[in-house]
Amino acid sequence: MDFQHLPKIELHLHLDCSLSYDVVRTIDSSISVEEYNDRFIAPPKCANLADFLKRAPEGFKLMQTEEQLRLVVDDLFEQLAADNVVYAEIRFAPLQHIHQGLLAHDVVGVVEEATAKAIARTGIQAGVILCTLRHFSEDESMETVKLVRKFAGTKIVGFDIAADEAGFPIYNHVNAFRYAYDEKIHCTAHAGEARGPESMWETLEHFRPSRIGHGVRSIEDPILIERLKKDSIHLEVCPSCNVQIDIFESLKNHSVRSLYEQGVSVGINTDARTITNVTLTKEYQRLHDAFGWTREHFLRCNLNAAAASFTTPEQKLDLSTRLESAYRD
Ligand code: HPA
Ligand code: ZN
Repeated sequence: MDFQHLPKIELHLHLDCSLSYDVVRTIDSSISVEEYNDRFIAPPKCANLADFLKRAPEGFKLMQTEEQLRLVVDDLFEQLAADNVVYAEIRFAPLQHIHQGLLAHDVVGVVEEATAKAIARTGIQAGVILCTLRHFSEDESMETVKLVRKFAGTKIVGFDIAADEAGFPIYNHVNAFRYAYDEKIHCTAHAGEARGPESMWETLEHFRPSRIGHGVRSIEDPILIERLKKDSIHLEVCPSCNVQIDIFESLKNHSVRSLYEQGVSVGINTDARTITNVTLTKEYQRLHDAFGWTREHFLRCNLNAAAASFTTPEQKLDLSTRLESAYRD
């Protein structure tokens, strides 16, 4: 089955963890392909999430000037085009890009403008989500969510928390998510990946997101599954990354199949294209190989993602109509 040509929605995708070798070489010609494979890509099995995340600085170290940020956005849109992605939400943490003198506000401005230009050039629709990180202070989290507010009405569409869920608690970030809730800012949050259902319960209670990044360990708690269904909380599932950090031994043991069958809203994503060395087309192929998933399953996942996206009702309807006609052909 050829999955490449099918239109896809991708809601969980880290800009700074998705640099192709081409863009890395353009930014720093001294990095050989062997070094890229060694430093930027993690092994197929990592000890845990923290081990996996050790590769992330390789990406954001090369994204410290306006020109570098523009190059990386353009590079990602080329990868999205190769996967036939029609709508993407791209996330990154602006405060990781101020190490060579850029102001956080300017970082967001450059990425927003580069995204708007890439949309016009490629026809791929997209939004940008700003991330705070688990190890950030309360001030850094507030600064990040206020950037989402300042850029309201642009391609900046939401707020997220990423990084090491198992190593850092939620306390520093509760006020930022309260602010987001009061300001009606769309939110997602990484949870239920490196920790289990208790992490998802605290995330739902204190952050009140409409989606959860990963959330795959909700399979351990039937009451949590009921809650996700009742409140239509969408799970941004990134299958290969979950296997890589060893939540599941192989894709065949991944909870996404059961979550789908129990009626939870799930979508399929890559998370970190470089660190995991994956494309969205490969993710679809692997789910087909592991579970026999066909167009019907992928249509459902994409319609779920369209409904859960942080875009306008008009764009959601347009995406759903395009998906229905492409998958039913
Ligand atoms: N979890 C948390 N933070 C991340 C991830 C992830 O899977 N990928 C990139 N940043
Ligand atoms: Zn992620």
